[in-house]
Amino acid sequence: MMIKPDAVRAGNIGNILQMVNAAGFRIVAMKLTHMTKERAGQFYAVHRERPFYDELCTFMSSGPIVAAILEKENAVEAFRQLIGATDPAKAEPGTVRHRYGTNVGENAVHGSDSDENAAIESAFHFSGMETYS
Ligand code: RTP
Ligand code: MG
Repeated sequence: MMIKPDAVRAGNIGNILQMVNAAGFRIVAMKLTHMTKERAGQFYAVHRERPFYDELCTFMSSGPIVAAILEKENAVEAFRQLIGATDPAKAEPGTVRHRYGTNVGENAVHGSDSDENAAIESAFHFSGMETYS
């Protein structure tokens, strides 16, 4: 997962991690970091043909983020339920994006969309020695 620059700027790191813990996820790696626009572009390379790609990379490099690796049974699906729809206006009440997201671009958190991508994204942010199971 990542806590995106909008949520870090708004002071919501603690509130979001509280929700993550309360939902039963185990944090096995975590850091505050700041992606360059180029690195944000690599992270979201799958979206490079989409009209919002440049805006997304500018936003994701606009300030520090928190990156974390989470563990839980069925974690990808469970985390996407916790964060809600991409557009906070469409996210269910009680979800992270409903509470802390601003709009479809600035939506507070990122969650991996598959086990395969979760492994790739974990390796993007962390070395093996930064991970504690
Ligand atoms: P994420 O990857 O960040 O967890 O979000 P997601 O799966 O719910 O949504 P995805 O389709 O993967 O889009 C990635 C991020 O791109 C930004 N976005 N902007 N302006 C737009 O229409 C638009 N659509 C998507 C959002 O920051 C979204 O989370
Ligand atoms: Mg996605």
